[in-house]
Amino acid sequence: MKATENNTYAWGKKDKQGRREYRLHPGQSKVLRSRRRFTAAIAGTGGGKTVLGPLWLLRRLKELEDEGVVRGMIGMVIAPTYKILSRATVPTLIDTFRGTLYEGRFLEAKGQYILPRNLGILYLLSSDNPNGLEGGQLNIGAWLDEAGQMKYSAWLALCRRTGVNQAPVFITTTPYLSNWLKTEFLDYFIKGDPDYFCVVWASNANPAYPQAEYDRAKRTLPKATFEMMYGGLFTGMEGLVFPTLPLCFVKPRKIYGGKRVGALDFGWRAPFCALSGILYIKDGEQKLHIDYERYLPQTKLVDHSNALPESCLWFADPAEPDSISDLRDFGHSVVKANNSIMAGIEAVNSLAISGCLSISDTCENTYAESVAYQFPQNLDKKEKSEIPVGGMDHAMDTLRYLCMAIKKTIPRTVLRSVTTRRTA
Ligand SMILES: Nc1ncnc2c1ncn2[C@@H]1O[C@H](COP(=O)(O)OP(=O)(O)OP(=O)(O)O)[C@@H](O)[C@H]1O
Ligand SMILES: [Mg+2]
Repeated sequence: MKATENNTYAWGKKDKQGRREYRLHPGQSKVLRSRRRFTAAIAGTGGGKTVLGPLWLLRRLKELEDEGVVRGMIGMVIAPTYKILSRATVPTLIDTFRGTLYEGRFLEAKGQYILPRNLGILYLLSSDNPNGLEGGQLNIGAWLDEAGQMKYSAWLALCRRTGVNQAPVFITTTPYLSNWLKTEFLDYFIKGDPDYFCVVWASNANPAYPQAEYDRAKRTLPKATFEMMYGGLFTGMEGLVFPTLPLCFVKPRKIYGGKRVGALDFGWRAPFCALSGILYIKDGEQKLHIDYERYLPQTKLVDHSNALPESCLWFADPAEPDSISDLRDFGHSVVKANNSIMAGIEAVNSLAISGCLSISDTCENTYAESVAYQFPQNLDKKEKSEIPVGGMDHAMDTLRYLCMAIKKTIPRTVLRSVTTRRTA
């Protein structure tokens, strides 16, 4: 088939007998043939991952029925957040099941898909609800969409839920971090463990994926980030502390509403860094758009103070109480930031991965640091440090303070009390 013909092919279109036709690309058909306990499709964004989950479930339901199971089928469909679950995972499931032998009823309020003929239930869950994955043994198994965003504890819970029946788990995801998906899944497959199977493909393996978009990303993104998001590869990201952060940089934009928050990392020889942005709510989610960066060495605090945006709640390096106190005297609202490194790194990554963080591309030093900020390389694995290499970390520390501070919604009363009384 010619590429042009392929591009115009509509996924799931009906054939002459009225049956839906799914022309899988080679990576998709290879992964759907797997009968191993744990199978993963690890692919670039838009590579045709989510569409596979319902096809895998349909095959699994047929297998169980053929084995004589006619009641009590229980399975799970899990996404990392309710947003992904409700906007992508569940609609794809409902659409693919429509018109098949397994078309059932979607009970939105209960988060369940009731299979027809009293066959059983698919529980539709987001893994950010910690209790949701507990209890009960599955026999259908589980489909985990975007599992690369899930915590290791969610993966362990799934292994427990499927353990007794040795039910299969099917993962469809892009890699986001060098996390458990690499060390506790892909690496087992690479070492030849018979329970694990992975197929990796790039976004443009999907004939419907626009080549121009793939080329644009390749031209403009740092190599490791491109290979991860569009190549489905973990290579090069082992050392990166914030692998998806470069994707957060956007053209300057105006956010209406919201409150101004910021963070400060003090310095004299090393640059003083301030980042500030608007914290706002969109589609029920708290988002942060950073639109201000100050990154300057050897400058007096009073000069920084005069330049900083007003009416901002600042979270500052807790190791510098005198500077915090001086800034308060200059009229700024400043509180001590939480300097817990690992928790802060997780806060930045979770905001970046969930699409809740955007940064104006005018924040050039922040961008430069984001692509250079690394964990130490080439250490013995056992000695591998969890503390990033210092040096290129001023904006990164500042970003950490800010993301850590807004991890939980900042109470409106605190934000309302922010005033700037300029005295200097
Ligand atoms: N083999 C294929 N041939 C043609 N079109 C396909 C094929 N596989 C998927 N598609 C189409 O590509 C689009 C993207 O598919 P899908 O949503 O599964 O991608 P994804 O990898 O989950 O994307 P994302 O990274 O955004 O989650 C859908 O419109 C789907 O119909
Ligand atoms: Mg998807």
